[in-house]
Amino acid sequence: MKFFIDTANLAQIEEANNLGVLDGVTTNPSLMAKEGIKGEENVKNHYLKICSIVDGPVSAEVISTEFDGMIKEGIELAALHPNIVVKVPCTKDGIRAVKHFTDNGIQTNCTLVFSVGQALLAAKAGATYVSPFVGRLDDISSSGIELVAKIVDMYSTYGYKTQVLAASIRSTQHIIDCVEVGADVATCPLSAILGLLKHPLTDSGLATFLADFKKVQE
Ligand code: E4P
Repeated sequence: MKFFIDTANLAQIEEANNLGVLDGVTTNPSLMAKEGIKGEENVKNHYLKICSIVDGPVSAEVISTEFDGMIKEGIELAALHPNIVVKVPCTKDGIRAVKHFTDNGIQTNCTLVFSVGQALLAAKAGATYVSPFVGRLDDISSSGIELVAKIVDMYSTYGYKTQVLAASIRSTQHIIDCVEVGADVATCPLSAILGLLKHPLTDSGLATFLADFKKVQE
């Protein structure tokens, strides 16, 4: 399973990248706003900075809600760097835009997906990635991971090439759940990725090894 980091924070992106296991980055307008990035030029420069840190797909989301605006924005974003993936909401205009980008060789991430039906449309439009939002479904007492599992099954049954990118991941357990249902990618906060390292037996085992090593040195 591939790991993307779900942030626009450069320090966190660098920290995750330095682990050597990072495959890409996802952002959204809320994450950009959280970093105080304002204005078209600053946003574009920020994407370029992210692309200079990570050698992998970087999702950049369009703001327009109608087809023509999405196409204009997406073409500009894709021209920034070969690793930019244009992130498009799963709406009527969004699906049209995904198909247009697919036909023109631009990679896409179809986002804000909350149902198998939406994921079916994204795949038929040729999306590179589909993003079911796990945490936001859990927030309303619906199982986000169950949706990821259903999409993985449906794509496997019909042979769709669209990669299932589990988004809105909130915890380390969510990552483990994604592994169990066969998500292609999980985009996660840094804290959830680092949580995978935590095990008390690793800590106590290492402490014992170091203590025993000291004994043989004496
Ligand atoms: C990433 O592609 C999504 O925009 C993001 O994971 C949403 O996460 P949230 O539900 O925690 O805001």
